[in-house]
Amino acid sequence: MSRAGIAANARVTRRFGAYDRPLVPDDDRELTRVGRGTPMGEYLRRSWQPVCLAAEVGEAPTVVRLLGEELVVFRTRRQEVGLLARHCSHRGASLEYALPSDQGLICCYHGWHIRSDGVILETPNDPASTVRERLCHPAYPTHVYAGIVFAWLGPPAEKPSFPILDSYDQAATQTVPFSLRFPCNWLQILENCQDPTHSCFLHTRVSGVQFAPSWGELPELDYIRTPIGTINVNVRRWRDKIWVRTGEIIMPNMNQAGALWLTGEDEVCFLRTSLTRWMRPIDDTATEVVGWRYFNDRIDPDGRGDRSQVGPGKIDFIGQTEDERPYAERQRVPGDFEAIVSQRPIAVHALENLNAGDRGVALLRQVLRENVRAFAAGDRPATLDGSRTVVPTYTQDTVWTVPPRPGRNDRALLREAGRRLAAVVLESATWPAAERALRFRLAAARLADELNA
Ligand code: FES
Ligand SMILES: [Fe+2]
Repeated sequence: MSRAGIAANARVTRRFGAYDRPLVPDDDRELTRVGRGTPMGEYLRRSWQPVCLAAEVGEAPTVVRLLGEELVVFRTRRQEVGLLARHCSHRGASLEYALPSDQGLICCYHGWHIRSDGVILETPNDPASTVRERLCHPAYPTHVYAGIVFAWLGPPAEKPSFPILDSYDQAATQTVPFSLRFPCNWLQILENCQDPTHSCFLHTRVSGVQFAPSWGELPELDYIRTPIGTINVNVRRWRDKIWVRTGEIIMPNMNQAGALWLTGEDEVCFLRTSLTRWMRPIDDTATEVVGWRYFNDRIDPDGRGDRSQVGPGKIDFIGQTEDERPYAERQRVPGDFEAIVSQRPIAVHALENLNAGDRGVALLRQVLRENVRAFAAGDRPATLDGSRTVVPTYTQDTVWTVPPRPGRNDRALLREAGRRLAAVVLESATWPAAERALRFRLAAARLADELNA
């Protein structure tokens, strides 16, 4: 058989069968491609997206690539942040060489003066020109929040207020913005957040303990839709404890993770997230992960986090960047970065063999696909809407003392514990925010009594 005759959906089914393997088929373009006019690109443009850290916007305009678009982000002399198409509307000189003015930028080449909203204020090389009455330079609105610059890349008329999540304002918490560059498609990074079994292998059994030994216990898993995305319900047995973690995806490209340094050794209840992050596409094959790390004594009682290691290009846990460790070490002790980036620049879904451990990944793709198609058909799938006061989210960790008992099926008990606590997590989002933690504690304590009965 000639190579040309190998079907794209061929599988290797015999020993030493590498010759039989399919040619690499195309990736899942409906979900992976983010440029203007693509289905996913348009859907992503209906949510506020992070541009960069506010601290990275200095005096000179900075070139940024956002969902395949070439832009410059800058501060006016009044310190307002603007986001303009990179190439000047006159003859295309890059505005990275422009001079900031009070209201926008002055192009270096012929002095066109462009306001942050795109209005062309002056064309000094032809002062009498009426071009500025007919033309605006492409501009996007920005919003700076807690050290991150966000932009609205969708149609101006559809711009919602900037949404505030309950996790943004946790008591006695230090919030530190960070950004990390992954040279691969955005979707595989998001999928990693909905794949808790990798914690058991990549972060514990294969690479050695990167967080806590309890992470090496294979969890019982469930995946549930929420009004704003999906959660994974991740239930572990650790000695006499049952640990229920819910980690979440917020549509279309956000994740909140549980307490990073939790060991499962001690009882806790309704601990909230240790980070909020966006997998913000640079283009189809590169991604900037931008978000906040949260530091407080509740989620990190042993003080293992290090806020000095959080910022542009760095974060305080292993395996998140290319340059943090030598290649030989990254080979021996790989982390998320190595596993995710090595799935190819764009992971090829048609070559995968998903199993029950990948139900979260499958659900995530299904929800994204439904939303992209609904959006393309003219519906408006739920996105975060800033007109509500504060958006409740679903990330938490709870650890109870519920010892295993002879004669009782412990795995079934874990599944029951996860199912019942997840129901509380979902319901609790409808409770008044001020009462949520207390009522959750009461419900979780009742549940622990019942599991111990
Ligand atoms: S190219 Fe910008 S003013 Fe001419
Ligand atoms: Fe991970």
